[in-house]
Amino acid sequence: MQGKTVVITGGNAGIGKEAAVGLAKLGARVIITSRNEQRGQTARQEIVDRSGNTDIVVMTLDLASFRSIRFFASELQDRVDRLDVLVNNAGLILRRRTVTEEGFEATFGINHLGHFLLTDLLLDRLQASAPARVVVVASDAHQSAKRGLDFDDLQSTRHYRFTKVYGKSKLANIYFARELARRLEGTGVTSNSLHPGFVRSEFGRGGDLGTLYGFGIKYLAAPFAISPEKGALATIYLASSPEVEDATGGYYVKSRRSLPSKVAQDDDAARRLWEMSEQLVASVPA
Ligand SMILES: NC(=O)c1ccc[n+]([C@@H]2O[C@H](COP(=O)([O-])OP(=O)(O)OC[C@H]3O[C@@H](n4cnc5c(N)ncnc54)[C@H](OP(=O)(O)O)[C@@H]3O)[C@@H](O)[C@H]2O)c1
Repeated sequence: MQGKTVVITGGNAGIGKEAAVGLAKLGARVIITSRNEQRGQTARQEIVDRSGNTDIVVMTLDLASFRSIRFFASELQDRVDRLDVLVNNAGLILRRRTVTEEGFEATFGINHLGHFLLTDLLLDRLQASAPARVVVVASDAHQSAKRGLDFDDLQSTRHYRFTKVYGKSKLANIYFARELARRLEGTGVTSNSLHPGFVRSEFGRGGDLGTLYGFGIKYLAAPFAISPEKGALATIYLASSPEVEDATGGYYVKSRRSLPSKVAQDDDAARRLWEMSEQLVASVPA
């Protein structure tokens, strides 16, 4: 990865931070994003110390704000000439329905729509840097969205069951990676999604799940989870391995190409989500 530039959204914690350490060890310049400058700088120091690579940069990004996403994309492109890998990693689950700065349901808004806009803004730079890769951290939790996305209520205004809403946002991640791969065919930019395994990260612990569920994840479920280092292996593999240099449109579970749910293989639904996402982004003046 010498000479390559990698951006990892949410690289200040959990799977993203471990992926940053792994890719930094391989020699990449790694740009991690953080909502909070101090948290980002602390993570940066840890990544530098553990990898021995000092070419690690922190930039502020809040995926719940189109303003922040546009500012980040513009700053990034002023700062770096090339972008070899974009890892759309940041994500969360929210027990209560909240909305982003633009009023979109926040799980959908952060996990899918924010990354949709970000990737769109960085696409020219990725294509100019080809061969390049987009890696999307999805989840097997997409399997819970058995009936697919509710295109009449993408903002979950009618029902809000947080596990379902999270599962749907991860289904949206898989649709996005597949449709992006289709649209980028022949450009030298690949797009794949992955399930990292059940990982003992900070996921669901920051109060986003409330005390009871947060406690459940931390103390009851954690013993069954893998370490964040192991959880980052699939991301590192898709971001760097020559084995998957030309692979695109795939879904990987622990570094093996596998099939997502039947619903997730519905390319018409993937296209429909893409078109609706374009409309949602366009509905907010830039
Ligand atoms: N843990 C698992 O078992 C598991 C399983 C399958 C898939 N995943 C997926 O793996 C990805 C990483 O999760 P993780 O387990 O590493 O969780 P984590 O330790 O909680 O890390 C999540 C990262 O996302 C960032 N983030 C949250 N909201 C954001 C926003 N509005 N804008 C920008 N960044 C934001 C967080 O930054 P802050 O520090 O600012 O909060 C943090 O860096 C997620 O997409 C998750 O869905 C996790």
